[in-house]
Amino acid sequence: MKKRSVSCTWSEIDERTDLPDDILKLIQAAETAIENSYAPYSKFRVGAAAKMADGSLVFGSNMENASFPLCICAEKSCVTNAENNKHGIILESMAITAKHPTRIIDHPISPCGSCRQILVEKEQRQGAPIAVYLFGQTGPIWHFDSAEAFLPLPFDSNEL
Ligand code: THU
Repeated sequence: MKKRSVSCTWSEIDERTDLPDDILKLIQAAETAIENSYAPYSKFRVGAAAKMADGSLVFGSNMENASFPLCICAEKSCVTNAENNKHGIILESMAITAKHPTRIIDHPISPCGSCRQILVEKEQRQGAPIAVYLFGQTGPIWHFDSAEAFLPLPFDSNEL
């Protein structure tokens, strides 16, 4: 029997002032995206913003439904918005954050497995990595060089 392992590497940024201007704007856009969130059931409002290669920003937020399994995650909505409104333009980076009405989120918010898989396939399809920035209302910002960096063993379309 062989033991195998995968590792996950990211950078932790303590101060927003250490970020370049375009990434700071991206992070602020993710915070703005939260305003469009519809999360009356979980109260967990998620915002995502994507920076496209043409310099434009695309937004996404979570949208819940009384039929709970129908909930749409912010990251998934951001990727579909980019796909439809900025078709053919490379999605360079994405920032993701969240808010809750009764507590401060003091750490980065990690995307669910399903959103990670969608981000990985998007970067494979476009042939370029997506830099990902995760952050809370306070605390550090986590920067991943690519989506695959946080989903090291994705399901691969070559299996089909
Ligand atoms: N949610 C996201 O928007 N992204 C994730 O990666 C995980 C969870 C949303 C879905 C639901 O509306 C709420 O957060 C609580 O799960």
